[in-house]
Amino acid sequence: MSLASLRRAMAAEWKKLAPKPFDPKRPVVKLHESTYGDAEVWEFLNCLLRTEVTMGPKVRRFEEEFARKFGHKHAVMVNSGSSANLLAVSALCNPLVKGHLRPGDEVIVPALCWSTTVWPLIQHQLVPVVVDADPATLNINPGEVARALGPKTRGIMPVHIYGNPCDMKSLMPIVRKHDLTLIEDTCESLGARHQGKPLGSFGRVGTFSFYYSHHITTLEGGMVVTDDFDTAEALRVLRAHGWVREMKNSKRHLADNPAIHPKFLFVNLGYNLRATEPQGAMGSVQLRKLDRFVRIRRENAAYWKRELADLGDVIASQEETPGAFHSWFGFPSRVKTGAPFTARELMTALQARGLEMRPLNAGNIAAQPAIRHFRHRVVGDLRHATAIMQDGFTWGNHQHVDRAAREYVARVARDFIEGRCRRG
Ligand SMILES: Cc1ncc(COP(=O)(O)O)c(C=O)c1O
Repeated sequence: MSLASLRRAMAAEWKKLAPKPFDPKRPVVKLHESTYGDAEVWEFLNCLLRTEVTMGPKVRRFEEEFARKFGHKHAVMVNSGSSANLLAVSALCNPLVKGHLRPGDEVIVPALCWSTTVWPLIQHQLVPVVVDADPATLNINPGEVARALGPKTRGIMPVHIYGNPCDMKSLMPIVRKHDLTLIEDTCESLGARHQGKPLGSFGRVGTFSFYYSHHITTLEGGMVVTDDFDTAEALRVLRAHGWVREMKNSKRHLADNPAIHPKFLFVNLGYNLRATEPQGAMGSVQLRKLDRFVRIRRENAAYWKRELADLGDVIASQEETPGAFHSWFGFPSRVKTGAPFTARELMTALQARGLEMRPLNAGNIAAQPAIRHFRHRVVGDLRHATAIMQDGFTWGNHQHVDRAAREYVARVARDFIEGRCRRG
């Protein structure tokens, strides 16, 4: 079989197997559906057929395209969003990196976050300082950030929750005034901007995830971006064993170590967090689809905001930060205090009618059992993050949710809510 006929056969097979449009007779709205199509499968397969498997030109091309699209100077691809956070924190703590963080330094984090936002900080002997969320935007509350500052505060790692940019207008003056190292966890917010500026470009580094359920996917995968050349060099070396090979400017190391073969010259600590060529190839195709995917997510969110506006006494969806271009990784919402049902009841009822549901992130990270074993500091009572952990929920909002699906979602949500409100 020629490659061309293999390609055609594969595309035909994909057509049969690919997720089908919403079927009102058997209504199912999943939390996510594949963002890739036969073009990505072909790119992936092509790499395997040519044994282009370990990190190489296709990963580099994806990195360059990613950096160019969002105006970052450097992008370093890794094998997950969690690895992106680990690598970013590791580079910023590395003794060979200028102005690095030191053991015992405090880094402010939002209580509403993901586990692997915070774990890399602890793994590097930093002290997470947990502050509360804003109840409407669900993002870190800048007022609480100001309150959290102490003599050991050296960094801040905000999370742009569910595609909604943090209030960078309020956060950046604090970052500048206190000379904080800013690490933006943008793993949920690809394609979002604040005041026209792409997320991930406000701080020293930004991190992204291409996990299967995210805006675009490389199955697993992630990216770290930075505008600082030395930080980028550290990211590249730490990503792969600590060897010199990935450096753009390795001259000094090579000159200083003539007796060591340049192939196996180790100049820093390191992990192996590399992505693979098939993932890089897939990423390039996915990136070209991102704007369309984000447009659909935004249309769905706008529709549900309009359709469910009259239920505002009992549920409230996430409020877009002023000046934001939101990329809607879901439709995060809350059951209001006094509503005649709980979020768990709502999730169970909607799930029974075909809507996949989930709570919001790790909820209040300070309430998770793991953190008790490790040094951290809590600011205030974290009452909003604690409440969101109980009353937060989302259903699926992605490129596969079409008009019929979103109308079904609104109807099912309304049926449940109005039914419960009538019962009182
Ligand atoms: C805010 C945040 N950070 C980090 C991650 C980790 O990304 P990954 O699942 O690719 O490891 C996630 C996962 O969704 C996330 O939501």
